[in-house]
Amino acid sequence: MRVSLSWKWVIASLLIESLMLTLMVIKNLEQLKTNLSTQTIVRLHEQKILLKSALVAPLVQMDYATIDAILKETKKIATVDYLAVVDNQNNCISSIGLSDCSKLPKKEFNPFSQESLKDQRFDTNIPITLYSEYLGKVYLGLSTKFYTKAKEQMLSRSIFIALMELLLSAIFLITISKWIIKNLVNLTHSADAIANGDYSKRINLSDSKETYELEKTFNLMATNIEKNVSDLKSLNNKQQKLVKQLKQQIDENHEKDILIKQQSRMAIIGEMLNNIAHQWRQPLNAITVQMSSLKLKKEMNIIGDNEIEEISDSVVKYANYLSNTIDDFRDYIKDDNGKKEDFIIRDSLNKAIDIVSASLNNHYITHSIIDSNEKLEIFGVSNELTQVFINILNNSKDILVENKIEERFIEIKIFKENNNIVISIQDNAGGVDEKIIDKIFDPYFTTKHKSQGTGIGLYMSSKIVYEHFAGEIVVKNEEIEFKNKVYKGAKFSIILPC
Ligand SMILES: Nc1ncnc2c1ncn2[C@@H]1O[C@H](COP(=O)(O)OP(=O)(O)OP(=O)(O)O)[C@@H](O)[C@H]1O
Ligand SMILES: [Mg+2]
Repeated sequence: MRVSLSWKWVIASLLIESLMLTLMVIKNLEQLKTNLSTQTIVRLHEQKILLKSALVAPLVQMDYATIDAILKETKKIATVDYLAVVDNQNNCISSIGLSDCSKLPKKEFNPFSQESLKDQRFDTNIPITLYSEYLGKVYLGLSTKFYTKAKEQMLSRSIFIALMELLLSAIFLITISKWIIKNLVNLTHSADAIANGDYSKRINLSDSKETYELEKTFNLMATNIEKNVSDLKSLNNKQQKLVKQLKQQIDENHEKDILIKQQSRMAIIGEMLNNIAHQWRQPLNAITVQMSSLKLKKEMNIIGDNEIEEISDSVVKYANYLSNTIDDFRDYIKDDNGKKEDFIIRDSLNKAIDIVSASLNNHYITHSIIDSNEKLEIFGVSNELTQVFINILNNSKDILVENKIEERFIEIKIFKENNNIVISIQDNAGGVDEKIIDKIFDPYFTTKHKSQGTGIGLYMSSKIVYEHFAGEIVVKNEEIEFKNKVYKGAKFSIILPC
């Protein structure tokens, strides 16, 4: 159980006060004893003188009747318990208040000694002399009852006064402590309310300078807390809204990504058809030429069996070539070509060159590959890197044609630099316009007519390199020499960490 601060204070104060009062009572009792002792000794002394002077003559004259009378008279004093007179032979002459005069009590020296208090009597005796002649002794017993009574009275009165004082003090202390603690209680209630979420709570302790300061500080703190909590709440709301928006944005981006992927796929297929067209043109021409010559020779009847066989062999060869081309493209476009493995970068590049070479040839574009001797390998999906190469090569082809460059050239280099494998592809078409160079990797950014380009080629390429190979594509316009002439052109570097 927890004792409140005010009660602790009251109890401690009362304990201290009780201790002080007890000490005071003890001191008073001691003082009482001293006073009474002094009084008794003084009175005894007077009594001694009186008795001595009164008893000398009757003792000398052996006037026992007078001695009896003196003792009787003296016994009337309330504090005198007994009296006895003995002669110089120690014979008891007269006594009053004693049952046995022959057994007289021994002399005591302290009226309030343990012994005196025990039998409630202080025993003393006074020798009676005349001109230094010993005449006898008077035995005197003084009652100590008055002392015990006075002590008891004083004790009970002191206890009563002490109790009253304690009671009054308790009432006073409780009132004072309540008054002092009032502010503390007030403060505690307000702090409790704030802790439970009621931030509007304020306190009013303005009855003293110190509490006024406390009130000011507490209220300021409460105001700050209230403000901070409301700020936090609104921040939280904003954050929630932002998270919602972000989620929405992520969903939208995801949808966009899917769309872009589909568009990219369509673009690849379109590109493929274009490349197939280029690759088929020459063999189809050859077939047409051969079949026409066959028909002509047949009409003119100048064809031999051998020649028919030769022509049909050649046609079958061309037809097989066409069929193989279709297979190659189909393999590339197939959906299940996404197997991750270690592959040789050069193989992936060769596949891209195979696909675009007919298109490059038809547009009179020369290309060269400078490869390091070692077979550089990387882990991932080979076809994805092929797609990146095709995109960059197609861009070079487009710009070389668009800019009507006479001597068209693409230089490809594969090399190792630090911990990266770098594949750079540079053309001599003049470079990317510096005004747009920062934007060419953005989705849907194109400078081409919409029938020519969608602007997703470089976006998809950089996405593949970044997400699937942990690498990057950078572009720079650099000078390039071809056939002893210096050109300018865009250089795309695919940097793959290995
Ligand atoms: N080798 C290059 N030289 C100069 N400009 C280039 C070169 N490659 C790309 N660009 C510029 O970058 C733009 C974006 O290229 P990207 O491949 O992303 O899209 P696109 O080729 O326009 O269309 P898509 O590839 O979707 O058919 C191009 O429109 C072109 O302006
Ligand atoms: Mg492109």
